Amino acid sequence: VDLSAVRAALLAWFDRTGRTLPWRAGPEGARDPYRVWVAEILLQQTQVARGTVYYDRFLTAFPTVQDLAAAPQEAVLKAWEGCGYYARARNLHRAAQQVAQDGFPGSYDGWLALPGVGPYTAAAVSSLALNEARAVNDGNVRRVLARLHAEAQPTPAWVQARADALLDPARPGAWNEAVMDLGATVCTPAAPRCGACPLQGWCAAFASGAPAAYPAPKVR
Ligand code: ADE
Ligand code: SF4
Repeated sequence: VDLSAVRAALLAWFDRTGRTLPWRAGPEGARDPYRVWVAEILLQQTQVARGTVYYDRFLTAFPTVQDLAAAPQEAVLKAWEGCGYYARARNLHRAAQQVAQDGFPGSYDGWLALPGVGPYTAAAVSSLALNEARAVNDGNVRRVLARLHAEAQPTPAWVQARADALLDPARPGAWNEAVMDLGATVCTPAAPRCGACPLQGWCAAFASGAPAAYPAPKVR
C-alpha cells in the first residue's frame, strides 16, 4: 500500500467533510487538553449525537479542569447523569484533582498514568492536544483497517500495528479523527458506502465484492 497516497486521500476527505463538533475547536494538534479529554471519556459510552448534548452540559457546569477539580463529587455525578458508567466520572474527577495540582501531562505516557485513562484515551488526547504521533485503536479503526486489508480476524495487536503504520505523523490528530469519521459515517458496520469512500481505490474488502464481510463476526 502507498501510505502517503492513502494518507493524502483520507485527510483531503476529512478537510472537506469532517464533522464540526464542540470538542474539535482549537488549532490542529494543540487543542485544549481538558476539552479533548472530557470528550474522549464521554464518547467511549455515548454516540456522538447524544454525546454532544451531554458534553455541552458538562462543560457548562465545569468549564475548566480547575472547576472540575474543585467541585464536590455529587455535582460531578449530577452533571454526568444520563451518560452511564459513573466510574468514569469518578475517575475523571480524581484525575482532574491530580491535573489541577501537577498540570496537564505533556506526553502519551503521562496521560496513560492518570486514573481512568487507557491507551485509547491517551492516544486520542496526546495526538489531538499535543500533536504526538499516537494511533487510536477502537471499534471504528478496527473495522476500517480490517476492510482496507481484507483481514477477517484482526487481533488487537494486528490492528495496532496497522494503525501505527498508517497514522500520518505530520497530522496525527486529524488522522485519528478522520479514521473515526470514516468509520462512523462511510465505512459503517452493515452497509458501507464504498461509493462515497476516499479509500475505495486501496481497499481490499471493496475489491473482494463483499466489504461488509470484514471483519468476520467475533466467535464467542
Ligand atoms: N469518538 C471518539 N472520539 C471522537 C472524536 N474526537 N470525534 C468524533 N467521534 C469521536
Ligand atoms: Fe470501507 Fe468501502 Fe471504504 Fe473499503 S471502500 S474502507 S469497505 S467504505
